[in-house]
Amino acid sequence: MIRKELCKINSQKEIAVDIYELSVTGELVSQISSPGQFVHIRVSNGSDPLLRRPISISSYDKEQQTMTMIYRKEGKGTAMLAEKGPGDVIDILGPLGNGFPVEEVSIGETALLVGGGIGIPPLYELSNQLVEKGIKVIHVLGFQTEEAVFYEKEFFINGETYVTTVDGSYGRKGFVTDVIKDLRFDCIYTCGPTPMLKAIEQGYADKKVFLSLEERMGCGIGACFACVCHRADDPTGVSYKKVCSDGPVFRAGEVLI
Ligand SMILES: Cc1cc2nc3c(=O)[nH]c(=O)nc-3n(C[C@H](O)[C@H](O)[C@H](O)COP(=O)(O)OP(=O)(O)OC[C@H]3O[C@@H](n4cnc5c(N)ncnc54)[C@H](O)[C@@H]3O)c2cc1C
Ligand code: FES
Repeated sequence: MIRKELCKINSQKEIAVDIYELSVTGELVSQISSPGQFVHIRVSNGSDPLLRRPISISSYDKEQQTMTMIYRKEGKGTAMLAEKGPGDVIDILGPLGNGFPVEEVSIGETALLVGGGIGIPPLYELSNQLVEKGIKVIHVLGFQTEEAVFYEKEFFINGETYVTTVDGSYGRKGFVTDVIKDLRFDCIYTCGPTPMLKAIEQGYADKKVFLSLEERMGCGIGACFACVCHRADDPTGVSYKKVCSDGPVFRAGEVLI
């Protein structure tokens, strides 16, 4: 069930340049059903900005009713969010959308988790849940540059972890796809920039692939049509899916990206 709640901030810290880790407490945590779901955050107490900002849940603890989000300070909304601190409350709507299907991999199989930039956060809870299920996980995390790198150690605790940077300042120089081609795995879960998702979808048609998409959003709950994308199985291009309520996670080939 989706709830709208004033959640208390437990902590907020900058974990890489312009990358913030925000932990909050709220009853809505008990409603989270899968890794990869997101929340819609009202960043101001007034009407500017009017729209909430969608941010993925990067980890959660149902017993403690806490959840963590990791976001990049991008524009006006996330800059306002970054100014908040412990004890402040924020208006959160969630949990929203359908996350990654953990049940698609079985024991004995290997799951490859591929994240680019701010697409990496929802993969962390996914990694935790797969490991808890006894699945072998491999992570490939792509960043622009060394100062943007976060959560390498956290992922490493769960399994083999490769880091790439576009400028070669840390890890392997290049893109996540340069690393993936040498790995063996059964299933891919991925979230990140559209060109990366396209390359993975096209390059691994023989595997189970699940992609988490990002679209500009209005309501976040399937009511406003701001986030529609075309279904891949309709050549007329008139059928669509809503990223907020049908996604954000889709099976490869389900929608046009
Ligand atoms: C399902 C989903 C999950 C996301 N999870 C994360 C996350 O875990 N961490 C993170 O850092 N970012 C995440 N994003 C992107 C994040 O929502 C945007 O970076 C943020 O809305 C930018 O707001 P702003 O006011 O700072 O920027 P501005 O550029 O000032 O925003 C202007 C408008 O554009 C929208 N917008 C801008 N960039 C994006 C974007 N990439 N995707 C969707 N809408 C955008 C804003 O919501 C706002 O309505 C996610 C987006 C979606 C759709
Ligand atoms: S954001 Fe309103 S329908 Fe998806």
